[in-house]
Amino acid sequence: LTLFGAGRVALEDDVETADRLGWTRRRRSADEPEAVLWPRDGDPQREPWIAPPAWRSGRGVAPLDLSTETLGAWRYQRGVPGVLRDLQRLSAPAPRSWRVAIGGLGRVGGTAAAALASMPERRSGIAELLLHDGDAANLERWHLELQSVAGWRGTARLPRVRRVRLEEVFHACDVFLFAAAAGVPPVGAEGDVRYVQFEPNREILHAYLEQARRSDFAGLFLIVSDPVECLALAAFHDSNHEKGRFAGNGLAPERIAGLALGVMWGRSLACAREAGWETVARRGAAYGPHSTEVVVVDDVAHPDHRRSAALARAAREGNLELRRMGFLPFVGPALSSVALTLPALLQGREMLASVFLDGVYFGAPARLQWGVFPTAKALDGGLRRTLARAHAALSSRAHELAISPSER
Ligand SMILES: NC(=O)c1ccc[n+]([C@@H]2O[C@H](COP(=O)([O-])OP(=O)(O)OC[C@H]3O[C@@H](n4cnc5c(N)ncnc54)[C@H](O)[C@@H]3O)[C@@H](O)[C@H]2O)c1
Repeated sequence: LTLFGAGRVALEDDVETADRLGWTRRRRSADEPEAVLWPRDGDPQREPWIAPPAWRSGRGVAPLDLSTETLGAWRYQRGVPGVLRDLQRLSAPAPRSWRVAIGGLGRVGGTAAAALASMPERRSGIAELLLHDGDAANLERWHLELQSVAGWRGTARLPRVRRVRLEEVFHACDVFLFAAAAGVPPVGAEGDVRYVQFEPNREILHAYLEQARRSDFAGLFLIVSDPVECLALAAFHDSNHEKGRFAGNGLAPERIAGLALGVMWGRSLACAREAGWETVARRGAAYGPHSTEVVVVDDVAHPDHRRSAALARAAREGNLELRRMGFLPFVGPALSSVALTLPALLQGREMLASVFLDGVYFGAPARLQWGVFPTAKALDGGLRRTLARAHAALSSRAHELAISPSER
């Protein structure tokens, strides 16, 4: 058994990759590596580039189900150019506290930033909040506001708040949150309010991806803006395609995730509380897209159809109810999807996120283990079929929108 690499992780018996990384044989006297990685063949457009032992391969939603087998070992896709950078990153010491950048300080981004700025570092894991917005006056305003967040003589350390220029963002952060938008449909707008934002928001995203590429960014790239799952997929493909061909030298798919199911779950939970359904908080979950197709169940193993339908309705229509009253929803989303979810994510706890699953981003209970991976559950058979349909619907939407440039 020959191990290569002197850092946190080591490669087993892969001289070629070790050479390309400049990793030499690991000394016998060195500490045990935290992980030993083996190469595997896979499809870099459908599967994670580096996957932990608990990851389950399989088509569609199979990885969400406990009955699917796990990999059992850390694996990486050897032939993908970006994997070299990611292995270097994985091998370096993990950040003990995080530097989080928010791009887009509107209603959602600004409110999330405010909540995170007032959360002690020991609770959030965030040492520094970096602010960026396309509108200089708005950026200045949020900087002034958040700099003044403090408690008198408090001992709790709050995150340091700083403005960053676009060119600096990806050198300065470990985690980037994309919350910018070209324009949210106003109150009174008819029909879908999320998918219509796809092209304009993808355009804004492009500028950030360009900078991420220039900085050789290997941190986490989290999407908050709508349509979340489509923009997450666009982030993956746009950063990895060159001249219409997949180059595989951009962001790893497992380092991109969407933060959006938190608010869907929050709306469902409000409904459950009102109805007195106490077990929902422990046994239920939300899956699928941050859209009117979100799936919510009261109990993932034994769902009750009537209850689940009511919970799903609450999640699907909660935003419309606020809009009908004449307001745009943003406080629930900023707090539930971002401020309460991000600290859990960074601390490796289970939370709800849209994660890479067989070529698309799909909301599910998930956890950070290098990348953001779904956590499998013992799923009811009917629920599994429902999730498979939701996954197929997201895949065909991605196809219709030709999100992958090689499909155009
Ligand atoms: N994930 C969730 O749970 C969730 C919930 C609700 C809404 N959303 C979505 O979040 C997004 C933001 O919503 P909002 O209400 O905060 O929008 P908003 O219009 O209030 O804010 C958008 C912000 O983006 C900035 N911006 C625009 N162009 C930019 C650019 N090129 N570079 C940098 N910044 C730029 C604007 O200056 C503004 O500050 C929308 O897509 C919305 O649909 C997400």
